[in-house]
Amino acid sequence: MLDLDSKVHDESRQGEAYAPVAASTQTYNKRFYIESYGCAMNFNDSEIVASILGEEGYGPTRNVEEANLILVNTCSIREKAEQTVRNRLTEFKRYKQRTPGMLVGVLGCMAERLKGKLLEEEKLVDIVVGPDAYRSLPSLIAEAEGGQKSVNVLLSREETYGDISPVRLDNNGVTSFVSIMRGCNNMCTFCVVPFTRGRERSRDAHSIVREATDLFNNGYREVTLLGQNVDSYYWISDDGSETVTFANLLEMVAQINPLLRVRFSTSHPKDITDDVLFTMKKYENVCNYIHLPLQSGNTRILQLMNRTYTREWYIKKVDRIREILPDCGISTDVIAGFCTETEEEHQDTLSLMDYVKYDLAYMYFYSERPGTLAARRYRDDVPEEVKKRRLAEIVELHRRHSAENMEKEVGKTFKVLVEGPSKRSADQLFGRNDQNKAIIFPKENYKKGDYVMVKVESCTSGTLIGKAVG
Ligand code: SAM
Ligand code: SF4
Ligand code: F3S
Repeated sequence: MLDLDSKVHDESRQGEAYAPVAASTQTYNKRFYIESYGCAMNFNDSEIVASILGEEGYGPTRNVEEANLILVNTCSIREKAEQTVRNRLTEFKRYKQRTPGMLVGVLGCMAERLKGKLLEEEKLVDIVVGPDAYRSLPSLIAEAEGGQKSVNVLLSREETYGDISPVRLDNNGVTSFVSIMRGCNNMCTFCVVPFTRGRERSRDAHSIVREATDLFNNGYREVTLLGQNVDSYYWISDDGSETVTFANLLEMVAQINPLLRVRFSTSHPKDITDDVLFTMKKYENVCNYIHLPLQSGNTRILQLMNRTYTREWYIKKVDRIREILPDCGISTDVIAGFCTETEEEHQDTLSLMDYVKYDLAYMYFYSERPGTLAARRYRDDVPEEVKKRRLAEIVELHRRHSAENMEKEVGKTFKVLVEGPSKRSADQLFGRNDQNKAIIFPKENYKKGDYVMVKVESCTSGTLIGKAVG
């Protein structure tokens, strides 16, 4: 479905990807190596951790062999994501055995879910830190250096790390994530996130604008505002005199500079408002692209999932998006084979996909997660081979839709923000258009960070191929 170039973005990182850090030129007396798994928010958290560790004299390294501290920022969203991390931890245990004094820490959602288990039962790690406890990392490292096993998995109702300036890791210097909120209050029955990330809280709007402004001043040209449900962003100042909704925040960030592109993820179909859509329309630099997870096209299944919208509601939202923003790119998440899903209900998902014709889709088969509402209430009764067959049908249908959508772009000219060289050829540049479509074109004298008008001449299933026209 995706080509290499388009894989480096945002939620395509969910679950399995990892990102070794960029080398630093600063001098540090100790080194940490970090791998991140899961969603963009987790990757952004690793940058917060890098900042906290930098204060303690730890610099990043790409070379695990020279690290004093190995950190794995983990994801629990599906069983496979956890298995990948376990395999990595077993490999890291070998490095640890070879290198006296080396510490291994687990961060993120798996740390939160499994808590002390990773220390006690499996003896894979020295430090376990949940997503709201990163400020305690220095003291946990000190404890672990003293031979103690250290754990802090306390969730917080306030922590947003709003005052911490993330150290950008492994990025292109053009596009960056900015977390605007943490946690989730939605309790979708399949989902582990409310348990691993805690209650929803919104970050100080002014700290978000400051971070985005700093990024712009440092040459960045695109920020993606991150939250599990950005539409429920709502910040109230301490004295209560100021309230900021997501639409307000979008406007504040859009006004930093017309050359700073603004994206956001994830929108919830029950919460996305006309205000947000009209703000997108008003500002040319707010990209016409919405990630609107569907999960299922069938109302009964949506109810079992506690998504709190119906098939009809979702269709109306899509219609409204297209009415206000006719050329808006729309992407989605779909789960195949949720508990009790029948063949007809699966067909409803396919027919809804046919209606929307998504530009991009992240597609999974249902993976029961211990402790979630679905695990407690329903039987995971769709056989694995049926789940996989339904998923294959969903993937194949999406592949057709995305190919059709790409074909429609041939002959059009788009404003492309250049992110760097294409992975296919050093003579080509890679960038994205407003609708988040990947485009490559001959380099000529353009460079990363430039906006270039590119006329599309052909396409593959995941990439538009064009030529600069000015
Ligand atoms: N907050 C977003 C939302 O409301 O859709 C995204 C949450 S989650 C990090 C990303 C995606 O993983 C979900 O949209 C869902 O499709 C998928 N997912 C979550 N739990 C899952 C599970 N137990 N099995 C399979 N896929 C799952
Ligand atoms: Fe999970 Fe639902 Fe929250 Fe998304 S909105 S993080 S799917 S509980
Ligand atoms: Fe995974 Fe946690 Fe994100 S479970 S998808 S890393 S919020």
